[in-house]
Amino acid sequence: MNKQFLLASRPTGTPTSENFKLVEVPIPDLKEGEVLVRSLYISVDPYMRGRMNDYKSYVPPYSLNEPIAGGVVGEVIESKSSQFQTGEIVMGMYGWQTHGVVYGKDLQKINSDIAPISTALGVLGMPGLTAYFGLLDIANPQAGETVVVSGAAGAVGMIVGQIAKIKGARVIGIAGSEEKINYLKEELHFDEVINYKTTSDIKADLRNACPNGVDVYFDNVGGSISDAVLLLINQGARIPLCGQISLYNLEKVDIGPRMQPLLLINSALMQGFIVSNYMSRFHEALPQMAQWVAEGKIKYKETIVEGFENMPTAFLGLFSGENIGKQLVRVAD
Ligand SMILES: NC(=O)c1ccc[n+]([C@@H]2O[C@H](COP(=O)([O-])OP(=O)(O)OC[C@H]3O[C@@H](n4cnc5c(N)ncnc54)[C@H](OP(=O)(O)O)[C@@H]3O)[C@@H](O)[C@H]2O)c1
Repeated sequence: MNKQFLLASRPTGTPTSENFKLVEVPIPDLKEGEVLVRSLYISVDPYMRGRMNDYKSYVPPYSLNEPIAGGVVGEVIESKSSQFQTGEIVMGMYGWQTHGVVYGKDLQKINSDIAPISTALGVLGMPGLTAYFGLLDIANPQAGETVVVSGAAGAVGMIVGQIAKIKGARVIGIAGSEEKINYLKEELHFDEVINYKTTSDIKADLRNACPNGVDVYFDNVGGSISDAVLLLINQGARIPLCGQISLYNLEKVDIGPRMQPLLLINSALMQGFIVSNYMSRFHEALPQMAQWVAEGKIKYKETIVEGFENMPTAFLGLFSGENIGKQLVRVAD
């Protein structure tokens, strides 16, 4: 039998476990070209919140009573595709299910010699590629420049900060717990870190941390944190707009200060992007990321929740900051 989590209802505001329904269904017989995959690690990601709404976006919304789609690393346990053998480790997008019946063309083989297989969902997968292209393609940080990253202890943010350090920039991270702050400072050697949940004056903290202003702001969160950073941008600043997690659960549109004059007077570039825009260039980035990981220039961290039944808990934890680095669910060994 295959266990699946379906979208039971669309959330209003912050999602709850009530929005998901756990069901068991028989595993169908394989058709020609199909592969049966046993899930080992399943990804939960902030973008899934957007797909729970019935809005037009860059990907279609999840359908009610259908499994939640997303990244999975698993083991091939049966194959009717000439490309895949039993026992191979693969990555697919079949989502919150203990087993996936997937066409071979929709799976990628994972080389477990390079790094642990779970990294295909994190530093050597979608979040790592997001950090790589958002930072290097849009912002192109130069040695000596000041780079600020919000959501700095998350899957994308901690990689952004480390790539910026590799490029010789001064890196300031913003995150939401002392454990995260210590990790960024002690383990990843960020130059300054700010806990936005405990500070009484984030603007003053940012002014102190960025005496030469901000050349690059990698925005993972939006809202008032981003408003505070934008007050400090320099002439020619670049602002990759990666995520706006602080806004995803709002029921009404948030109106903050109008920041466009700051972009105007500083001839700054703010550019939204979706990692899939860069799909044709993933092959450039992955060997470089793998090399940095192998050389220890990029460290990564994963927060792993055990057990398929805990998928919703792991997902909801993204919005209360339970994770350091990539949040995964381990479903089987
Ligand atoms: N453009 C793209 O293609 C693309 C691809 C991947 C991800 N993203 C976006 O990038 C961002 C980071 O994604 P990720 O996968 O790396 O997730 P993540 O950072 O690993 O996890 C989410 C983190 O966001 C922080 N957060 C939650 N609510 C917040 C709030 N109200 N204000 C400030 N911080 C909040 C929490 O950390 P704290 O403890 O610090 O609050 C939480 O740990 C998300 O906005 C996501 O949508 C975009």
